Formats: sequence, structure tokens, C-alpha cells
Amino acid sequence: QAGLETQRIGREVVYFEETDSTNLRAHELGAGGYPDGTVIIADRQSAGKGRLGRRWASPEGVNLYTSVLLRPDILPFMAPQLTFLSAVAVARAIGEASGLQPRVKWPNDVLLSGKKVAGLLNEMHAETEGIHYVILGIGVNLNMRPEQFPGDLRYPATSVAIEKGSTVSRTGFARCLYREIDRLYERYLAEGVAPIIREWEGLCDLVGRQVEVDCQQRIIRGLVTGLDEDGALLVRTAEGTEERILAGDVRPMKG
Ligand code: BTN
Repeated sequence: QAGLETQRIGREVVYFEETDSTNLRAHELGAGGYPDGTVIIADRQSAGKGRLGRRWASPEGVNLYTSVLLRPDILPFMAPQLTFLSAVAVARAIGEASGLQPRVKWPNDVLLSGKKVAGLLNEMHAETEGIHYVILGIGVNLNMRPEQFPGDLRYPATSVAIEKGSTVSRTGFARCLYREIDRLYERYLAEGVAPIIREWEGLCDLVGRQVEVDCQQRIIRGLVTGLDEDGALLVRTAEGTEERILAGDVRPMKG
């Protein structure tokens, strides 16, 4: 793609005015042998996928809906590491576009003013001999207006434009995001996930704070010390044990 200034990301760009979900298109292109770094982008999605089987609101023109197809030479258990790569890339790009300071929320949201501004849905296709491909699905609320948000959201949400007070260019933002993914991906392939984890920890407000985690029918209370290389949240309890949280709902403790 002319002018992207990237090494791998966007060597192939597949654009849709409308599609059901860019992640579904990415699976097809992944199975069809499209190269590492292929980018899929749509103006609107008729069935945008969110986490946990939810829908992702995808009105026309205002936001970014994109999926990036990667073919890293890693083992299946390492694939969740790439969620942190997308979160850091999205946070950097939103920071550049808005001059504001986005934060990340474990496991995979990006926030502005404490409200969700982007969602990430990473998926992989593994085979017995290893990873076939990974898809980074990224939805960023760029210019969505308050009345365009679904009424039944379970969390506070916002857009870059609402927080910044002016609209942002979708193509400018997309270029910036692909450049950040490209840089982080090159670094990941060369050095592994550690530098990405360190940067993610610096963007996460919960690191260093006391939290409560609802996890598998029990509540864990303790201090968040960071992330490990599998993307588990590390929580040190008052008893001095270190818990590795792989899934759960985390909130700061009051006081
Ligand atoms: C979440 O629930 O937080 C994840 C939302 C992910 C949405 C993006 S939009 C582009 C890509 N295609 C999809 O269908 N979903 C992801």
C-alpha cells in the first residue's frame, strides 16, 4: 500500500464498503494463503463481532473496523500475547491522533477517560504443527456520536472525537495504527513479548493497585504486580501468594 511506510503490515490491503465482519473475511484470506501482514478494512460491518459472542456496533463511516492477518512462527499458547501488541498499538495511535492519554484495561480494552474507546478480538487458527495464522481484530470508536452508541451497553463507552472535541481522519488514523502495529510486530519477532508487556503495564492503571477479581466462583483480593508472558494478570494476596488470573472481572478496591 503506497505511503504506509511499513515493512510487513499492509503489503496487501483488502477493502470492503460493507462486510459482515472483517474477522470472518480475515479467516477466509488466512485459509486462502494471503501473506503475513495482510490488512482487511471495512466502512461498515453488518455483523461486527465482539467478545463473548456479543455484537460490535459498526455504523457506517464513523469508526475504524479492521483485521490484520499475521503468520508469526510461534506456538499456539503464545497467541494471546498478540492481544497486548494490539492494545499497545491502538493506545499509541489514539494518543497520537488525540493528544490525550489512553489507558488499557486487562485483558483487552483501550480506554479514554475511563470509558471504552476500542475493542480487540484476536483469533487464531492452529494446526498440529503450530500456528497457521493469527487475526488481530480491531474496532476503534473514532467519530461516533453519543446517540450512535447502542442503548444496552454493559460498560461506559466513548469515541476519540467525543473526548477530543473534534473529529479525526479515519485514513490518517488507520495509517498511524498500521505503522505502530508494524513496529511492534518487528520488535516482537526479534525480542519476544517482554518489551510489549512492559509498555502495556505502563499503560494500565491497575498495576500497583489493590483489586478485587471475580474469578471462577471466588473472589481474589490483592495487589496487581503486572502481567506474565502468557498475559495472565499477577495479583499478590495479603497472604503473600501470587495468583495468576487468566480470565475474570477485575475492579479496583475502594479506598
Ligand atoms: C470487544 O468486544 O471488545 C471486541 C470488539 C472487536 C471489534 C472488531 S471491529 C473489527 C473486527 N471485526 C469484527 O467483527 N470484530 C473486530
